[in-house]
Amino acid sequence: MNAISTTKDVISNWQPHHEMLFGRHTIKLNHTLIETGMFTREAVAKLIERSPAEELGLVSRTYGEDGSQTRSFGELGNASGMDAIDAIERGKIWMNIRRVMDWAPEYRTLLDRIFGEFESRIPGLKTNKHNLGVLVSSPNARVFYHADIQGQSLWQISGSKRVFVYPTTDLFVSPQNIEKILLRETDEDMAFKPWYDEFATVMDLNPGEMTTWPLYAPHRVDNHDSLNISVTMEHWTKPIWNSYAAHYGNGVFRRTIGFGHGSTKDSGLHIYPKAAAAFVWKKVGKQTVGDVEKKRAFRIDANSPSGLVNI
Ligand SMILES: [Fe+2]
Repeated sequence: MNAISTTKDVISNWQPHHEMLFGRHTIKLNHTLIETGMFTREAVAKLIERSPAEELGLVSRTYGEDGSQTRSFGELGNASGMDAIDAIERGKIWMNIRRVMDWAPEYRTLLDRIFGEFESRIPGLKTNKHNLGVLVSSPNARVFYHADIQGQSLWQISGSKRVFVYPTTDLFVSPQNIEKILLRETDEDMAFKPWYDEFATVMDLNPGEMTTWPLYAPHRVDNHDSLNISVTMEHWTKPIWNSYAAHYGNGVFRRTIGFGHGSTKDSGLHIYPKAAAAFVWKKVGKQTVGDVEKKRAFRIDANSPSGLVNI
C-alpha cells in the first residue's frame, strides 16, 4: 500500500472561490484518492475482511410488480472480501463499510490529512468528528431521496453514478422531516415527487471526482451500469452542531409540550435551552423508541447467481 505523498493535494483543482462555496453550494472537484492505492478492489476487499461485523452494512432492495419495494439487510457470512465485491457486481446490493478510521488507523491518518487540507484552504473552518466510510454498490443500484444530519461529501473511486442534489427550502425538506431524522424516528426514505428533479443539481460522478453539498440538502443517487466504489466522508462544525441542537430541541419540544414553530437559526441564545433539551432527551433514553430494528435477511454467497442467499 502506498502512503499518500505528503506534497500532493487531495483536491487537485481547488480555486480560491471554493472557500466561499464549501458547505453552502453543491460543488464538484477533482481528487487524488485513487493514487493512494487505499481504495483499489484489493484494498477494499481487505477492509471488508477487517471490518467489525457491526460496521459492515449490507442492504438489498427488491421491487414488486406494483412498483412497491422491499429493503432487506444482509451479512457477509464466510464470504471473502473479493467474493463479496464480485457478488455486489452481479447483484442489487449496497455495502457500507462504516467508520473505517476507527479500526484501520492508516485511514484515520488519511482522513485527518484531508480535513487538514480543507481547513488550511478555508479561513475559519474548524471541523471535527470526521467519519470515513467505503461504499461498494451494484451496477444500477439506487439510493433514494434522503437528507443527512452532518456535513457530507462523496468521493468516486471506480464506476460512475448520477447524483441529484435538491434545494434546502422547506418545499424539499421540511423542518419536521429534519427533526424526524435527527430524533432517529425514521429509517424511511423521504417522500419524493418526480417534479423535484426540475430543481435538482444533477451531475455524473466519475472516478477521481468528488462532490459536497449544503447541510440537509436532500439527495439521491443512481449508479450507472458499473460496479461502484465510492468513499463517503462526514464532518461536523460548530454551526452544524448548533443547527442540529436547534432542530433536535424543536423536535423534542414539539413532541413533549407541543409547541410548533421554533427557530432553527443556527446561532443566537435560543440554541442553548434547545441543546440542553437535546442532551436531556438523549440521556433519558427515549431516543431508542424510534430506532428501527434491522433483521438480517440474506447472506453473501459467491455461488449464487444473484450473489446472495436468503437466511
Ligand atoms: Fe446521503
